[in-house]
Amino acid sequence: MKKILIILCINFVFGVNFDELREMYLKDSKYWSKTLVDDGIEYEEIGALPSMPPYPYYNPYSESKVELGKKLFNDPKLSSSNQIACASCHDREFGFGDGRKLSYGHNRALGKRNSPSVAMSAFGIEKFWDGRAKNLEEQALMPILDEREMAFDPDSAAKKLNNIEEYKILFKEVFGSEIITKELIAKAIATYERSLMPQNSRFDRFMRGNSKALSDKEIWGLHIFRTKARCMNCHNGVSFSDQKYHNLGLTYYGRKYEDLGRYLVTKDVNDVGAFKTPSLRLISQTKPYMHNGLFPNLRGILNAYNAGMFHPKPNDNQKDDPLFPKTSPLLHKLNLTNEELDALEAFLKTL
Ligand code: HEC
Ligand code: HEC
Repeated sequence: MKKILIILCINFVFGVNFDELREMYLKDSKYWSKTLVDDGIEYEEIGALPSMPPYPYYNPYSESKVELGKKLFNDPKLSSSNQIACASCHDREFGFGDGRKLSYGHNRALGKRNSPSVAMSAFGIEKFWDGRAKNLEEQALMPILDEREMAFDPDSAAKKLNNIEEYKILFKEVFGSEIITKELIAKAIATYERSLMPQNSRFDRFMRGNSKALSDKEIWGLHIFRTKARCMNCHNGVSFSDQKYHNLGLTYYGRKYEDLGRYLVTKDVNDVGAFKTPSLRLISQTKPYMHNGLFPNLRGILNAYNAGMFHPKPNDNQKDDPLFPKTSPLLHKLNLTNEELDALEAFLKTL
């Protein structure tokens, strides 16, 4: 009797019935409690990743293409100095980011933004924090050209590879082509990146029915993520990203570290300081966080969201400035308790 009482007590801490939550989240998502999002927000439910990442019709999957892409991704010959590979800044050990606030490239030139994980490349169409690459294939050639990254040009890179017998054989095998072009290089790299999709997180295993894969606290965190914390306004679907652009108040407008984000691509004043919602998968490995690497750890981010994120006010000179950035109206104070923040953090780490 005593034992049963203790179990009952534990399972009702903080007014939460953990057993009920576990049972609900093991069911199909149509039986879950209502998601809390703001009016007019369309979202997709979160869930397990598919067994195969989505590959587009214009660049279908083959095993040999993935292998070739992997070799190219790790090969510093794609840079002018023969020293920098894609993997220098997208390293498996750092969840396919680079673990730095900002990236270093050619001649140790410091980049302007934080290197994002490429593990979820199969999802979303536009690439980069501001979406300036129209797809993954177009993106793949851009770092080669970037003078702060690989400082080369894709045609010269292709020429270099055409002089390497091993690559000539591999491209022939994969694409049936005698000549190596930059387009084929891009296709191989993009296919490798799509194949990186990490589909065996504890969250995925729980979603596929393994009841032991998540603890009570983590399931509570999952519930808070979908409800009180309102994260689903932007981080939703199996990729945990709406693939849209939002301003969290990190523009540094008119200051040294100013970054106008999406505005640089669209020139739409509503896009000043907006950045693409990143996936939250592998999040425990991809610190530091945000487009500028501002946050060294997850708890700092959660505290900031809890306080409603940042809403900078214009000074006297900026009052009539149409470009003055507007923080997303979807961000407001959350009033999460410390225990709820702990649970939310624990949940994020299961991704
Ligand atoms: C010097 C470091 C560095 C190198 C080298 C580098 N990248 Fe990146 N990568 C970055 C940074 C920084 C960003 C974010 C830049 C931005 O959004 O403006 C990025 C963004 C990306 C993205 C977009 C991810 C997303 O979710 O939007 C992809 C994909 C990517 N890189 C692939 C590659 C490939 C492929 C190569 C090699 C051809 C490569 N990178 C070389 C630092 C690097
Ligand atoms: C208004 C849309 C929006 C909402 C709501 C939102 N996020 Fe975000 N989140 C973003 C955007 C956009 C970024 C990137 C912003 C930047 O770099 O300037 C981001 C970044 C993050 C990052 C850093 C990821 C990385 O790789 O750098 C984490 C972690 C995160 N959000 C978690 C959460 C959690 C947890 C919640 C709920 C409490 C939440 N977000 C609510 C849009 C949102």
